[in-house]
Amino acid sequence: MDIKTAIMSRRSVRKFIEKDVEKEKLEELAKAAIWAPTGGNAQPWDFIIVSDKEKLRQLKAVSPGLLGMPPSLIAVCSNKQANVEKMGAIGDVLAVMDCSMASQNIMLRALDLELGTCAIRSFNQSAVGEILKTPEGVEPELLITVGYPKQDTKAPSRKEDVIRWEEY
Ligand SMILES: Cc1cc2nc3c(=O)[nH]c(=O)nc-3n(C[C@H](O)[C@H](O)[C@H](O)COP(=O)(O)O)c2cc1C
Repeated sequence: MDIKTAIMSRRSVRKFIEKDVEKEKLEELAKAAIWAPTGGNAQPWDFIIVSDKEKLRQLKAVSPGLLGMPPSLIAVCSNKQANVEKMGAIGDVLAVMDCSMASQNIMLRALDLELGTCAIRSFNQSAVGEILKTPEGVEPELLITVGYPKQDTKAPSRKEDVIRWEEY
């Protein structure tokens, strides 16, 4: 798939068929994540792949923004504390930016593997951290749901008057 097609056709998928995602494909997604750009090459992130049904049920219970039931998800976690120690005060913002870049890699690679994804931020961060047993300083930033799409999703509109040349 060429890059323009991937960018234009990626949609947030919230309905999945009842088919598990192959472990190899989930690993492919995590590998795409670790090749995202990262400030100072610090790589302040961890990717927790979850396919266990009970754990997914627990995560859904503390995530109002998680609609439907995905067969898998990848929790993209920042290491803000370690990044501040390495990069100075800006390290916490950089960690979140890096996680966003990694998330887009996951979503575009998923599309290439005929998988659907949706980035979820509406969740209780400390509850998700507890369920996933994240250590102190490691915070879940996004849950990326992953599964085989149930239906084609229509593209929501985009504002085009945000593109400016030379000055605001
Ligand atoms: C940072 C971020 C947080 C999001 N959080 C949620 C969420 O909690 N629940 C949800 O259903 N979608 C969530 N989304 C998906 C957006 O709703 C979606 O990207 C937007 O409506 C545009 O649709 P598209 O992804 O199909 O282009 C989130 C997306 C981003 C980038």
